[in-house]
Amino acid sequence: MTQRKLNIAIVGLGFGAEFIPIYQRHPLANLYAICQRNTERLNAVGDAFGVARRCNDFKQLLRDPNVDAVHINTPIPDHAWMSVAALKAGKHVACTVPMATSAADCRKIVQLADRMGLKYMMMETVVYGREFLYLKELYDKGDLGKIQFLQASHQQDMDGWPHYWPGLPPMWYATHCVGPMLALTGATAEYVSCFGSGTIRKRLIRAYGSPYAVETAHIKFKDSDLTARIYRSLFDVARQYRESIDVYGSKRSFEWTLVEHEPHVLHTAKRPEPKIPQKIAVPDYARRLPKPIRRFTTKGIYDLAGKTHLSFTQGAGHGGSHPHLVHEFVTALAGDRDPFPNARQSANWTCVGLCAHESALAGGRIVRLPAFTIAG
Ligand SMILES: NC(=O)c1ccc[n+]([C@@H]2O[C@H](COP(=O)([O-])OP(=O)(O)OC[C@H]3O[C@@H](n4cnc5c(N)ncnc54)[C@H](O)[C@@H]3O)[C@@H](O)[C@H]2O)c1
Repeated sequence: MTQRKLNIAIVGLGFGAEFIPIYQRHPLANLYAICQRNTERLNAVGDAFGVARRCNDFKQLLRDPNVDAVHINTPIPDHAWMSVAALKAGKHVACTVPMATSAADCRKIVQLADRMGLKYMMMETVVYGREFLYLKELYDKGDLGKIQFLQASHQQDMDGWPHYWPGLPPMWYATHCVGPMLALTGATAEYVSCFGSGTIRKRLIRAYGSPYAVETAHIKFKDSDLTARIYRSLFDVARQYRESIDVYGSKRSFEWTLVEHEPHVLHTAKRPEPKIPQKIAVPDYARRLPKPIRRFTTKGIYDLAGKTHLSFTQGAGHGGSHPHLVHEFVTALAGDRDPFPNARQSANWTCVGLCAHESALAGGRIVRLPAFTIAG
């Protein structure tokens, strides 16, 4: 375990700004630098959080020998090249989802992290959200019995979001669904089959050549009798924002609520019919974190920046996952162990979506995950 605090640089200060106060309070981290292109906002964020080292040029940031790790929160098309550049510069990388939008870029990142002896972690929020942590606890204790099936959804209306969103194939941003499906039992995806359904507006189709309103995929787990179903929509579907996980076990099953902020449901087998479902409140897992960052499972940047004129796009959402993600990344670096998910696992989760979209375009043909995403 290293004794020195790790110098972290956050790149991209929309969603990325959420993580500044968490790194600042983590006992093993020093929020050393922030980076984004617009100098005015860079300085506004730097002033609001008291960050001295500010940089509006990513490549210049990478030349700073004091930076141990970068946490990338830039637009989707920038994730891959920035991760590659950072690894080449000898920096550990945490990157928001997805890892990349091509299997070739995922491969590059996996190989580089391996060759350079550096850590890469895709910062998938759902696998550190309280619903997943609750399910994992039930699973690890054996309370769910034998897992029989899993499914997950992520539906969001992305009209009006920045330029790289319009027309994005739904499965290119599928890790919020894929991650929890595979992480629960520690599985690896082996192959997928996906169908597209419905049609989005012509103007949207042109951007990526992806016509579907909804994509629904089945994922076959390697060396397992399990299959999961995931479905996604981004445009032209009437649905409140929803990330969901349903897990069906022989003893207990968990179903995510249909409507945000209503209770989830736990079904218990072999009870009189009306007593099978139980509405439950999922506990918070702040107690697993160092004291100074526990409050960030329920409080976000709004609470800290309330006195400034800054506006931020995200609150303390994502199931209270942000401080858990920071804790996992920082303790992995300090302890010289792989974070979860590591580079290969991140590639497997990301490529499920990429392969699923390829499958949908080929009428549901089975597409195998690239070998470099599968261990051993
Ligand atoms: N639950 C989640 O995991 C979750 C939630 C929200 C956003 N995200 C991801 O976070 C990313 C950012 O989303 P957002 O809503 O904050 O976007 P945004 O457009 O509001 O912010 C992007 C930021 O990146 C910076 N940036 C862009 N190019 C740069 C460059 N070359 N060098 C340095 N900085 C650069 C911009 O200045 C800006 O600060 C997206 O990839 C999105 O998918 C993930």
